[in-house]
Amino acid sequence: MKYIITCAMLFLFVSVFAQTKNETDLQIKINSIVKKMTLEEKIAMLHGNALFSSAGVPRLGIPELTCDDGPLGVREEIKRFDWASANWTTDSATFLPNGSAIAATWNPVMANKYGVVIGEEANARNKNIMLAPAFNICRMPLCGRTYEYYSEDPYLNSQLAIQSVKGIQSQHVAACVKHFAANNQEFHRDSVNTIVDERALREIYLPAFKAAVQQGDAYAVMSAYNKVNGYWCSENDFLLNKVLKKEWGFKGLVMSDWSGVHHTVAAANNELDIEMGSSGPYDQWYFAKPLLAAVKAGQVSVKTIDDKVRRILWLIYHTSMSANHPEGAIATPAHTKSAYDIASESIVLLKNDANLLPLNAGKIKSIAVIGDNATRTFALGGYGAGVKARHEVTALEGIKSRFGKTASISFAQGYKAEYSANNTDAQNSGYDQPDKNLIGQAVALAKTTDIAILCIGSNREYESEGHDRKNLELPFGEQALVDAVTAANPNTIIVIMAGAPYNLNEIKKSNHTIVWSWFNGSEAGNALADVLKGIVNPSGRLPFTFPVSLNDSPAFALNTYPGKNLTADYKEGILVGYRWYDTKNINPLYCFGYGLSYTNFTYTDLTTNKTNYQPGDKITVSLKVKNTGSVAGKEVIQLYVSKLNPSVLRPAKELKAFKKMMIAPATTAAVSININAGDLAYFDSKLSTWVVEPGQYKIMAASSSKDIRQIVTIIVR
Ligand code: BGC
Repeated sequence: MKYIITCAMLFLFVSVFAQTKNETDLQIKINSIVKKMTLEEKIAMLHGNALFSSAGVPRLGIPELTCDDGPLGVREEIKRFDWASANWTTDSATFLPNGSAIAATWNPVMANKYGVVIGEEANARNKNIMLAPAFNICRMPLCGRTYEYYSEDPYLNSQLAIQSVKGIQSQHVAACVKHFAANNQEFHRDSVNTIVDERALREIYLPAFKAAVQQGDAYAVMSAYNKVNGYWCSENDFLLNKVLKKEWGFKGLVMSDWSGVHHTVAAANNELDIEMGSSGPYDQWYFAKPLLAAVKAGQVSVKTIDDKVRRILWLIYHTSMSANHPEGAIATPAHTKSAYDIASESIVLLKNDANLLPLNAGKIKSIAVIGDNATRTFALGGYGAGVKARHEVTALEGIKSRFGKTASISFAQGYKAEYSANNTDAQNSGYDQPDKNLIGQAVALAKTTDIAILCIGSNREYESEGHDRKNLELPFGEQALVDAVTAANPNTIIVIMAGAPYNLNEIKKSNHTIVWSWFNGSEAGNALADVLKGIVNPSGRLPFTFPVSLNDSPAFALNTYPGKNLTADYKEGILVGYRWYDTKNINPLYCFGYGLSYTNFTYTDLTTNKTNYQPGDKITVSLKVKNTGSVAGKEVIQLYVSKLNPSVLRPAKELKAFKKMMIAPATTAAVSININAGDLAYFDSKLSTWVVEPGQYKIMAASSSKDIRQIVTIIVR
């Protein structure tokens, strides 16, 4: 044992030493390159020279820096100077489940798989930076990019962000985490001033960025379009300089969002490194000729320019110029498998009151698959990130492949999804009206079959970058379709495909079986059908709250969305998501962390290794979780913490740890999870520091944020 420990320590020492030496050698090399460069060559590296690249230094063998979107997979090749397709035939990629789907897996391993696929496909396309992952906090249920982002909770957000970044960068491709920071609505995203207190920033909006930088070692950060507390994010001294670079020790580069720069000198001196944007003339950009002039006028120092160039070179040496740079591959069977794994763990079973699921394939002879979403693909659509998918299995195809041998399967469209993200409201008017003809056909079909699978929800036009949804309602007259089909066939299963919370009040009341899927990638239909058939036991959990009503949610209750005079005042402070609902005793429709399984789990024997802790201690929480059913299943064990009698406002509970575990039927798993006592701190804005308040804390082992199974109390001194 002693020998093993000594060997392990020696190995660690040798590898840390080797790494430090490599980094020192690299810095020497980078310094020597910088010395050889002219000011003009340096400035050329600091701004886009095309839509998705910035200049290298060919004379010194430094290649261009190339990047691409984005969260759903590597976007198809577009023309160098405009957004039109380059019409390549070799760029169709794996479509990965959207951000909230990844978050619903509650499984960092899935985030890592996602990252590896993105990294490998980026390499095959010679992209050095992937503009992903995106994980702004889901503050407000209507945000158009909720589907791209992860969660309302900073801890879940952080654990997934770390692993997505690690996965991407394991392939020597830089992850560019975005959008830094507090970019939580699309409405007026490029002009809104977000007013947010430092405590909320530190406790809610920044943790995942910090984790991505410090634990994930992210090589790049994208500044957001909006202002935070009066200053554009692309020139925000507090965010970029004080917090990101000085406090967190970020070594990589800060890139602007596309056309998100407003001033040359302020952005350059406040630590933006590269200006990116959508259209030329590139030499007129803030970080092109105007920056050269600012340096010559002494407003920006050469030292500042050199630091930016060094950061870019550092990134290039860790990506395109790295030793053993992998070649990459696109849309391989392994990538398809990863897309399937993520999708199958992301699906959330919301209701199964009639125990209709899993379907008994032996007994079901006819299935009506109804709804536009059953045949729709989600890889492309709307404005912003999309993928030209090599393949995408629709729900209907998946159901046919899993049930087609034993049952007859027919399809009816049910509703028309007539909505375009690029249309005006007037052009989109009427999109929410039911189509009586299509409903009639669906009802006629549903009456003749053993079961109906109704695939509704939204789509990539309806949820999109660039605009927020107007309300929480299901679009396209879907409620009328649900009512009619449910009345026609009592064995109706509602499958909702969407990326953000919706109003499911009526469906929850009138339907016994509800499954939530997402924009679930290339293998969406197969994963869904496997969940319906019970080949996969659902283990997804909601990464955000579904409120009963929009007015229950903090931004609406406090009337701070979309803001007045281009100012969004985050008056709810730290009470975002379930922190708000639980602290204010507002019952949600479906709570954060919720999701059913085809089995049940009981929790017992919750203990901690000690009762009294110091802030530097590790709290080891142990419990037993038994699968009491007859099928294997994955449970997400969630640990929430609450301070008893706090001296400052604290949320009723906060997620501090979680673990997803596969547990065999009739088996008890011994679970052990660590929490750092230091992580029980709150941020004291007056002292500008984290404070672990002494006293009692409740640790709650839970199956969702509202389903607390066991509680233990500890004391922190
Ligand atoms: C988005 C970014 C994206 C960039 C480049 C912007 O509109 O906000 O997330 O990476 O465009 O496509």
